[in-house]
Amino acid sequence: MALGIIGGTGLTRLDGLRIDREEPVSTCWGEPSASLVHGRLGETEVVFLARHGNPHRIPPHKVNYRANIKALKEAGVERVVAVAAVGGITERASPSAVLIPDQIIDYTYGRSTTFFEDDLDDVVHIDFSWPYCAELRQSLLAAAQHARVPAIDGGVYAATQGPRLETAAEIRKLAADGCDIVGMTGMPEAALAREAGLCYASLSVVANWGAGLSSDEITMADIERELETGMSHVRRILETLLAG
Ligand code: HPA
Repeated sequence: MALGIIGGTGLTRLDGLRIDREEPVSTCWGEPSASLVHGRLGETEVVFLARHGNPHRIPPHKVNYRANIKALKEAGVERVVAVAAVGGITERASPSAVLIPDQIIDYTYGRSTTFFEDDLDDVVHIDFSWPYCAELRQSLLAAAQHARVPAIDGGVYAATQGPRLETAAEIRKLAADGCDIVGMTGMPEAALAREAGLCYASLSVVANWGAGLSSDEITMADIERELETGMSHVRRILETLLAG
């Protein structure tokens, strides 16, 4: 069964993917961020979607998360690995680290968060106690270990609205709330994947220390440099996962 991969900042294309075809698609929720790229990595079929478009042009609060998840579902994938750039809050989440989070706190607002809105026979409440797919998390951890790439097991992902970065006080609040990392795209993506019945997990790459945690201004150039190392680890984890 094909694996869906949602690429974020720093992973607009997946090097090593042998592309069979690029398919522009439309869903009942509108257009996804980019064409679906069907191909092969190792032995496995992959459907790749660039979350921010290709080229990268859609900011986190404007991504049509419903169309993205629906498009992957309709392409027939059952498992989705979401790759995301994040800021680090706790000590272990230092720049270029890769985390496989196990929890989320959602601080976003004004986004379309559900497929279950109109024309319902019944009100639907999905179970979201454990927002990531345990089985896929374990597979990613095993692949990282096999590839001898460091990956941190677990962590709380804070989803913020963006597109601006946080204030130092906001980062202190997120730390007090128990968050390890902060990103702008983890929600509603994870919840929609659960609603769609997809097995969804995240490879979160730390691009920078959260605001106020280092003396430096956070620049896009710094973010891109740290991401390069982290994303090379992500590629190796994915290649190992798909070779097996
Ligand atoms: N905050 C929110 N999202 C991010 C950050 C950050 O510091 N870095 C990369 N994505």
